[in-house]
Parts: sequence; C-alpha cells; structure tokens
Amino acid sequence: MSDPAATLERSTDLRRRFENAGQGHVFRFLAELAPARQAALLEQLASVDLDEVRRLHAQLASKEASVNLDAIEPAPYVPAHFADAAKYRAIGEDLLRDGKVSAFVVAGGQGTRLGWRGPKGTYPSTVITGKPLFRVFAEQLLAANRKYGVTIPWYVMTSPLNDTDTRAFFRDNNWFGLEERNVFLFPQGTMPSITHDGKLLLEEKDTLAVNPDGHGGALRALKSSGALEDMAARGITQLSYFQVDNPLVRVVDPLFLGLHAAHPDSSGEMSSKMVPKRDAGEKVGVFCRERTASGSRTRVLEYSDLPPAISQATDPDGRLRYRAGSIAIHILTLAFIDRLTRDPDRFGLPFHRAIKKVPHIDPTTGQKVEPSQPNAVKFEAFIFDALAECRSSLVVETTRVEEFAPIKNATGDDSPATSHQLQSDRAGNWLSACGVSIPRRADGTTNAKIEISPLTALDIDDLRRAQLPRSVDVGAEVLL
Ligand code: UD1
Repeated sequence: MSDPAATLERSTDLRRRFENAGQGHVFRFLAELAPARQAALLEQLASVDLDEVRRLHAQLASKEASVNLDAIEPAPYVPAHFADAAKYRAIGEDLLRDGKVSAFVVAGGQGTRLGWRGPKGTYPSTVITGKPLFRVFAEQLLAANRKYGVTIPWYVMTSPLNDTDTRAFFRDNNWFGLEERNVFLFPQGTMPSITHDGKLLLEEKDTLAVNPDGHGGALRALKSSGALEDMAARGITQLSYFQVDNPLVRVVDPLFLGLHAAHPDSSGEMSSKMVPKRDAGEKVGVFCRERTASGSRTRVLEYSDLPPAISQATDPDGRLRYRAGSIAIHILTLAFIDRLTRDPDRFGLPFHRAIKKVPHIDPTTGQKVEPSQPNAVKFEAFIFDALAECRSSLVVETTRVEEFAPIKNATGDDSPATSHQLQSDRAGNWLSACGVSIPRRADGTTNAKIEISPLTALDIDDLRRAQLPRSVDVGAEVLL
C-alpha cells in the first residue's frame, strides 16, 4: 500500500522541480488517479533527468552532431580471405576455452516493421522447424559450451516494453537447455519523447510517453543492471555483441575474436564485421574513416544519413566505394566498456533524434490524441558511436551467405523469405564442402530447404563429423 502522506510530500517536491523546468503539465491529472497509480507516475517522473531533457531540446535547434563529409573516406578492412586466418582462429579458440568470452544480444527493439506482436526474439526464424531466434542463439551457445569445454554466459538486453514477455518466453522454454544462472536478462533504459517545443508528453494520465533509449543504451544498462560486475566476477574480458534479428549470426566466432585480440591494427577495444553492400540503397550503415585533428577514427554512417554522393559513389573497378555495410556484429572488450561507463554523470554516446507519431493525452482536455502526422521527437543512442572512442578499431569482412540474413520486414528485402533462402544457401554450401551433392538454380542458390541445427554443426568442420546424405533432391526438405 502506498502511504498517502509520503506520496503527497514526494509530489510537492517533484512538482516544484517540474514546474521550474516548464514541465508542470504532467501533474495535471494526478489528483484524479487512484493512489497506486499516483505513486507509479511519481516514480516514473522521479527517474526523468530534466537537465538532460533540456539539453537535448536545446540541441534540436541546431543540427544533430554530424560527420564532416569532406573529412571521410572508406574504412579499411580485413578482407574475407587472408593469410594467417588459422593463427587468429587459434587465438580466439584459446579465449573461448579460457572462459574469457560472453555473448550479448540486444533485443530491446520494438520490431514494428515486422508486425510481430511478441518480442522479436520469439519470432519463428528457421527454414523447416521454425525455431525462434532466441532458441537459435541458445543452441549455438550449448554447442559452443560443449565444443570448448566452458560455460559462455549470455546477456540479453530487453526493454521495459518487452522484458516481462521475454522472461516468460525463456522460462516457458526451460531456458532452451541452458542453465538459468548463466543467462542474464536486463531491461535497457528509456528516454522521454518530447514535443518540438520541448514539452514532455503523457501517454496516459498516469504514464509518461517514453521510448527505449536505443542499443547505445546498452552501455549504461550493462553497468546499472550489474551485468558488467557479473562478467568481471566470472573473469570475462570480451563481449560478443549481436542483434536479435539475424539467425545466421555466429554468436561467438573464434576467428573474429582472435583478430580483435591480436591483429596489429586493432587496439583490442571494439571491432566490427561488415559485408559488401548488396546495392547503393541497402539499409545498412557503412564503415568510414574520419580524419580528425589528432589522426583518424572509425565511424558508421547510418543509412538514413547517407547523401547519394556517398552511397552511390563507385571505385574505378565499378564496386561501391562505400561498400562496407555494417551487420551490427561487434566485439567489445570489458575494459573499454568500463572506461566509457565509469563516470555516472556522463553518458559517453550522443543521442540521435527521430521524429515520430506519439499518441498522447491532451493536457488541456484530458482526451487521447492519435496524431496523423509526426508530432514528437524520440532520442536514441547507437552502439556503433562507441567506435569513435577507440584508439584503433578493426573492421573485418565476411560474406552475406555465411553470416547475415536478418529478418526485419514482413515481405521484400530482409524478410523471412529472403532469410530462409540464405539459410538454405549456407547449409547447401557447407554440405557441398563436405562432398554432398546439392541442387542449385542457375544463379547458384540452393534449390531445396535445408536446416542444420547448431547442435549438429557450428561450422563445416563440425559437419564433416555428422551423418550426411550423399545428395539432396531438388525441392527436398532436409533437417540435420
Ligand atoms: C541496424 C543498424 C544499421 C545496420 C543494420 C544491420 C541502427 C540504428 N542501425 O539497422 O547500421 O546496418 O541494423 O542489420 O541500429 N534495439 C534495442 N533497443 C533499442 C533499439 C534497437 O535493443 O532501443 C535492437 C533491436 O532489437 C535490434 C537492433 O537493435 O536487434 C537493430 O535495431 P533496428 O532499429 O531494427 O535497426 P535497423 O534499422 O535494422
């Protein structure tokens, strides 16, 4: 039960602060609310950093901190095929065997484009059995634990909007065979949405309108949730970061880990994977090198910020000049995250803004407004902005068919259909490498549905040890 006297006292103090900041309207309906709802609203308001809101609104008047296009060039990268791969893979395998590596998925996004009602990680993603994305990652961890004789802890960032549903899904699926104590779920933070004149919005009379603070919010959430401390206690030094939407991701990749840790061009702080962009319009960020007064640093230019002069520029050989598309797979070293999160009053990453439609309560009439036009500004931080803080950051090329088949849209590009084809293509390539005859269309794509469970094989070498058919028929369904 909430104590009415305590609620009143808290309310008076908070109200004064909000009124001084020109945000007193969020208290307009407080008196109408039941005591428990009053307490909930006050708690939410108490967590708002009014100075940050004021600062972000002031920045709205100026242009968002942007990259100087005259000072950028394509980022160099380690090509997909290079000498010494075996040496670096061995280094990465040692890191895994020594228990230095954790897996980290950002799963706080709302997945609105896909039109899936639950958390994105619950989406049925594989070709034949329709395994949910979370299960695909969990089975890779089970297989890697077995292969390297370790326990790789898994950190899962949710958002306040999907945390309860995500936890229920893990519980209902018995943690996919992992041990509950080795899976650490925590919600990311939120940011209030504001109007163009800097006012906070009420989503309901008892709730402020907020949005998840972007995957860049992972840094402060890792810290505030105790995840960083948990990793340190386990002796973890490396965080293998990936997005929830990509069933082909290697949740831990020995070769990438080895390059990150030991390549001469890597400062060992944060490394990234790229694939060559499919075409100039593909919706991926691109890796660039930005010249600065003191040298240069790696940046990702987001697809929505790319002028055609950059996205369409070509090299003399006809390839896109800015072709290094970010597939949002990184390794971050714990010491680097520690450095970026040490000062609790200074959140290292900049906020980006997005103008969106945000339904809200009209503060004068108390009626719900469903805007037909974008009416509010949302703030999100992006993890790749941490690259600018690195002394020297490595970008490593991989191929789309091996590692990037995201499910983002219901149809068209990056949809379940394109992802399934790429999943079958990778499985077909792996089987071909093991001597199995695979039916192919004229364009080389696999003309069958093939699903290889991570528990059967994490790579071609594992697959060689499995029981395999001699050939696959056109249009067949093969589950291994
Ligand atoms: C993202 C990248 C883009 C990259 C592409 C590769 C951004 C801004 N852009 O684009 O550079 O080339 O993926 O697939 O990220 N998420 C959270 N919390 C949030 C917001 C997002 O956890 O507050 C997670 C989502 O669950 C998802 C991932 O971040 O796993 C990507 O978010 P999304 O908004 O779908 O990014 P894209 O536009 O696809």
